[in-house]
Amino acid sequence: MSFDLVLFGGTGDLAWRKLMPALFQAFRHGTLPEGGRIIGVGRDDLSDEQYRKLIQSRFDKVELAKRPSAEEFARFAALLEFVRVDLSKPDDYARLAASLQGRNADTVVMYVATAPALFTTVCEQLAASGLNTPKTRVVLEKPLGHDLASNRAINHTVRRFFEENQVFRIDHYLGKPAVQNLFALRFGNALFEPLWRREHIANIQITIAEDLGVESRGAFYETTGALRDMVQNHALQLLCAIGMEPPINSHADAIRDEKLKVLRSLKPWTQESLSLDVIRGQYANGTSGGGKVPGYREETGVDTRSNTETFVALRTEISNWRWAGVPFYIRTGKRLAGRDARIVVNFRPTPHAIFNSQLGMANRLVINLQPKDGLELHLLAQGQENRQQARQGPSQQALAPVQLDLDFDKRFGSERVGAYERLLLDVIDGRLNLFVRSDEQEEAWRWVEPMLEFWANDSQGPRLYNSGTWGPSASSAMIARDGFCWSEES
Ligand code: BG6
Repeated sequence: MSFDLVLFGGTGDLAWRKLMPALFQAFRHGTLPEGGRIIGVGRDDLSDEQYRKLIQSRFDKVELAKRPSAEEFARFAALLEFVRVDLSKPDDYARLAASLQGRNADTVVMYVATAPALFTTVCEQLAASGLNTPKTRVVLEKPLGHDLASNRAINHTVRRFFEENQVFRIDHYLGKPAVQNLFALRFGNALFEPLWRREHIANIQITIAEDLGVESRGAFYETTGALRDMVQNHALQLLCAIGMEPPINSHADAIRDEKLKVLRSLKPWTQESLSLDVIRGQYANGTSGGGKVPGYREETGVDTRSNTETFVALRTEISNWRWAGVPFYIRTGKRLAGRDARIVVNFRPTPHAIFNSQLGMANRLVINLQPKDGLELHLLAQGQENRQQARQGPSQQALAPVQLDLDFDKRFGSERVGAYERLLLDVIDGRLNLFVRSDEQEEAWRWVEPMLEFWANDSQGPRLYNSGTWGPSASSAMIARDGFCWSEES
């Protein structure tokens, strides 16, 4: 099957940091279908050869399990071409169209990795140049809009020219191996299903912590912030994967229908919950990676009086029979104490104690997404570390916390398919399971919007936290109100 993958934003950060390395990995492992072309599109005046050299020079800066030899890179680079397109100029699209029509590939993927404000222009121009044929697939990067209205406007324009099943709204968290394993754990095994409900689960915590700051993306981040950048999409998709009902089959719409139901069941905000259950923060200077780092307001491209949040912690509930009353906590931020993404399912304590142990939340399932992916099951065990204990009766014995640990890297090897690699192959092959449907996305914006509105009228601004910490102390206080603590504090 031949394909043309057209990369709008072909010289941009996402292209060289994530997309090209992912395509290279697929090429290296022989999973990229043969007969493909990857066409970078951008404003620069580059020849194909100059584009290949540019990507090669950037490859030195990206993480790859094994660096390519010159010969290996050259074989990959033979797939790369470049077409100069100023996105606002119709004539430039005509040039692109000519290049694509000359070859007539079986599938044409338009990967729009540009600023979201350009999505509608690109789609309109693609249609005007006759590039919206049935064999075209459009990939749209997040964030898709900055609120519900702008998201709807983009979806509306896109749907004027493309069918829903031609539109691949990407959320790379859905491609992460740990998320695949979460689906496998929940729907490929019967073990946890009877426990996966309010009767047995005390709370669920979703943390996506990054140690890096905004790096070179200060200007982008200023108009985005952590709520739009991470919560509206990545964190909510994780929440859906944890909270959804088993789908009737593994088809894209069966999965997306169930995720949509979760989003529709999220507890509506009130003025009270907005003020008590949502904490926004912004990093001040501090220490990270062993060195001193500047605060957010000192970053390039950031207003010195900026109120943009770099941290959000919130409490919500899924109002349905399975989950009513179970708090779901979401926390994400930049310049936190480490790079650590995980979902923690805290099971309820035993109802009655026969051992001399505290009735804590001893049973916990941890789904680690980053930096390593794996599963941990925390239990209490009779360790008999102290010989004297052998002389004590059961009621005097203290139990010790232990954990069953499954490290997927060790089990399956560290060179597994990465998120972007999997998702790009899915687009080429036309599989929509791991992509977000427009109604899901709109529902997520609908739920996020009251927080944006509340902040717009809140003169207090975000709470400052020192870089290298776990964010404002108010986030611990919020969860403590329910009698719980964040997993790293327990
Ligand atoms: C992106 C956000 O979607 O996800 C970034 O725009 C963030 O701000 C990144 O750093 C995190 O992705 P990952 O895969 O490194 O956790």
